[in-house]
Amino acid sequence: MKVDVLLGLQWGDEGKGKVVDVLTPRYDLVARFQGGPNAGHTLEFEGKKYVLRSIPSGIFQKGRTNIIGNGVVLDPVLFKEEAEALLESGVDIRPLLKISKKAHLILPTHRLLDAANEKAKGGAKIGTTGKGIGPTYTDKISRNGLRLGDTLAPDFMSRYEAARNKHLAQLKNMGETPDIAEAEAKWLDAIEYLKTYDLVDSEFVINRALADGKKVLCEGAQGTLLDVDFGSYPFVTSSNTVAAGACTGLGVAPNKIGDVYGIFKAYCTRVGSGPFPTELFDETGKKIRDLGHEYGAVTGRERRCGWIDLVALRYAIMIDGVTKLIMMKSDVLDGFDEIKACVAYEIDGEKVTDFPYSIESETIKPVYVTLPGWKTDMTKMKSETEFPKEFKDYIAFLEKELATPITIVSVGPDREQTIERQTK
Ligand code: GDP
Ligand code: IMO
Ligand code: MG
Repeated sequence: MKVDVLLGLQWGDEGKGKVVDVLTPRYDLVARFQGGPNAGHTLEFEGKKYVLRSIPSGIFQKGRTNIIGNGVVLDPVLFKEEAEALLESGVDIRPLLKISKKAHLILPTHRLLDAANEKAKGGAKIGTTGKGIGPTYTDKISRNGLRLGDTLAPDFMSRYEAARNKHLAQLKNMGETPDIAEAEAKWLDAIEYLKTYDLVDSEFVINRALADGKKVLCEGAQGTLLDVDFGSYPFVTSSNTVAAGACTGLGVAPNKIGDVYGIFKAYCTRVGSGPFPTELFDETGKKIRDLGHEYGAVTGRERRCGWIDLVALRYAIMIDGVTKLIMMKSDVLDGFDEIKACVAYEIDGEKVTDFPYSIESETIKPVYVTLPGWKTDMTKMKSETEFPKEFKDYIAFLEKELATPITIVSVGPDREQTIERQTK
């Protein structure tokens, strides 16, 4: 058996959580492979809305095992809050969840370092989610991190204290002398809570499941344009959000990757700083934001909105090896007279279709194709046979430009508002 991977092709918030939830009944295991509580994955069904940060989006479908893989960074306090909120709404995740002992821990001082780093950058700040993601991955790569499995060692406290003291010294150098007593007590309490979960070597769980013929879905966080290697560096997150991240973040060999579902919005959004060639600063951008409720699930920040960028999407499809596309939020454009799609960039008078090294807006002018809108409320549609002609044409145009089939179209936030297409 092979694992399928589902990941975002833009700057995150494409609707990964919703689709993972919809696809989970076809799988036995759902596994997160990177990122941490910087993610906010929204699911809506039976009139209720849930936002998941560290817990995989397969958690609501009965009888599935969910895994937090080694590539994820975990904040014990936020994890506890998330799990307790789910319990309150009637979902006991404990029997359904396994967590890799190799997942790195976000310390209270990592969050403080995240804030201090941002402050030090001033106007050049990244606009992080403030969850300590960058400093935690920095410690992982520089071999100073603490892993979940370390909490089981007899000398864990002294290792924690050494890491904390190092961070406090760094903070002092940056002019910060925080009192962390309260946050630390809460964190240590949450560590004890985490230890009551099934802490595993998840690479064995997944590979054995595959050997037993079980089906595994890997859930990405963030999006390809936020990847630390291929995204709009340095305005990116600190992990590999691309399909290859599933290999390192779960211990799945490259030849075990099956389908790669690439998910994108019918337009484009970005939260935080960084270049965004097709960003709209006019009424149309505002209209997309209002109709699409484009406000961050984690930070509540306004998401920047713009037209779909096919140069960036083609690049993401190439890097990720996408085999099936999923288009989200097309309903947001239901009332538009015209829809634009960026098919190339103009740089120094030349037309460029390869995603360039720098996408700073001063140097790039998007080249747009304008398509007629479908002016039809699609939110109650159940089948592609109901699609208006203009929408069918829009899909055909995208499939041709992207050379990849669009297999699912989402026409609203609810689980039910998902339409599968028959593709060859
Ligand atoms: P994720 O991080 O990729 O899981 O995406 P988010 O949950 O951060 O953001 C997607 C937002 O769009 C959430 O508020 C979803 O409820 C909502 N959403 C998902 N699919 C659709 C859709 O097809 N139409 C509309 N209108 N909203 C959607
Ligand atoms: P999901 O999984 C959208 C952005 C932040 C910031 C940059 C770095 O919900 O799609 P970080 O805290 O990771 O160091 O921030 O990345 N970012 C996201 N944007 N969706 C996300 O996750 C994001 N996770 C991080 O806004 O620009
Ligand atoms: Mg999100």
